[in-house]
Amino acid sequence: MSTAPKAQSPFKPARRIASLPVPATIAMAERVRQLRAEGRDVISLAIGQPDFPSPAVALEGAVREVREGHTGYPPLAGQKPLREAVQAKFRRDNGLDFPLAHIMVANGGKQLIFNAFMASVEDGDEIVVPAPYWVSYPLIAGMFGGKAVEVPCYEADGFRPRAEALRAAMNERTKWLVLNFPNNPTGAILERSDLEAIAAVLRDFPNVMVMSDEIYEHLTFDGRKPVSLLNVAPDLAGRVLIVNGVSKAYAMTGWRVGFAAGPEPLIKAMIRAQGNATSGICTLAQGGAQAALQSPMEGVERMRAVYQERRDKVVPRLRAMKGLSCAMPEGAFYAFPGMKALKGHLTAGGRTIDSDVAFTEALLEEAHLATVPGSAFGQADHFRLSFAASDKELEEACARLERFTASLRPASLRPASHQMPR
Ligand SMILES: Cc1ncc(COP(=O)(O)O)c(C=O)c1O
Repeated sequence: MSTAPKAQSPFKPARRIASLPVPATIAMAERVRQLRAEGRDVISLAIGQPDFPSPAVALEGAVREVREGHTGYPPLAGQKPLREAVQAKFRRDNGLDFPLAHIMVANGGKQLIFNAFMASVEDGDEIVVPAPYWVSYPLIAGMFGGKAVEVPCYEADGFRPRAEALRAAMNERTKWLVLNFPNNPTGAILERSDLEAIAAVLRDFPNVMVMSDEIYEHLTFDGRKPVSLLNVAPDLAGRVLIVNGVSKAYAMTGWRVGFAAGPEPLIKAMIRAQGNATSGICTLAQGGAQAALQSPMEGVERMRAVYQERRDKVVPRLRAMKGLSCAMPEGAFYAFPGMKALKGHLTAGGRTIDSDVAFTEALLEEAHLATVPGSAFGQADHFRLSFAASDKELEEACARLERFTASLRPASLRPASHQMPR
């Protein structure tokens, strides 16, 4: 059997990769894998992955592609029947009517974001991102020389951005404003009035494009329905790119199908970007996504209702735990508790909690519960946990978190065994 040669490689990563951090969510998943390989019983609420199987219709749709012999290179923008299903979805769910030339599909929402920034961002361009945000926007923009300008959102505002704060962050270098509601990691949803105020700001900055990432649109709670920016401001159609996909709503993360609708010149440029990277996406996955999008919404509704039940179990428990606060998520499947009151505490294992990063590390190492520090999402003093996990896992995760927070002691109080004899 031959083995790989041991010779030294002259390879050096390009600057754009060398300076690219591993997203905290992926780093956490790696650490979980290591701990499990060492035999530890770790519960992971770290990644945003539905715990349901993909719909049976999607599987049938994929098989149909094979049976019908659709196994050649697909068109770059996506197969016509899938793009038509996306077009119908925008009409059905959003009341938006896009010509097919304004629609494309890619390997997940992530590739659409990559395509859009690759197609548009020049060195020094600024991308305004309300924080907390999904980790990938600043990282991808940075690969193309863009700079994220973070606009903090506050728990007291329900983590919704203030329009005036967005205005203050914009200038002639601003290329994009990124909106992601329902939001990862907070679950916040924008009201119509928020969108009207944001649209008024955008009208004063006519060159700014808007990326509206609506991938959690169907996962909303308490009867709330998210509104799309184009519903309140159709005059902005020339500069809004809607990013969406089947990963979250249809529990199809591994299929890698995302879709976008936006102005034709941008979509054309994104197709060119994709054409030089991955070409069109897997035909089987396209057939599966098409079948899912064309199926009745009951399956999605069932999963949504389960996420809401889990939220209703988990959030009150988080709120009752020592030192934690937690805004009620209005959508998606994450809770984003604050842990500021626990800073300066010591763990039973002797660690000092001086940040959200130290908190999540100690929680993983000492209580074997994986979450993600808020600073990875641009909001320190918080952490994110996903409730896309079984009731049993969530129950045990809450019990571990309860025991862990209850065991923390203010740093000024030494543990009993270390106290000086009186
Ligand atoms: C806000 C947001 N947008 C986009 C994505 C990308 O999803 P995918 O590439 O699986 O479609 C994710 C995944 O976690 C996300 O949370």
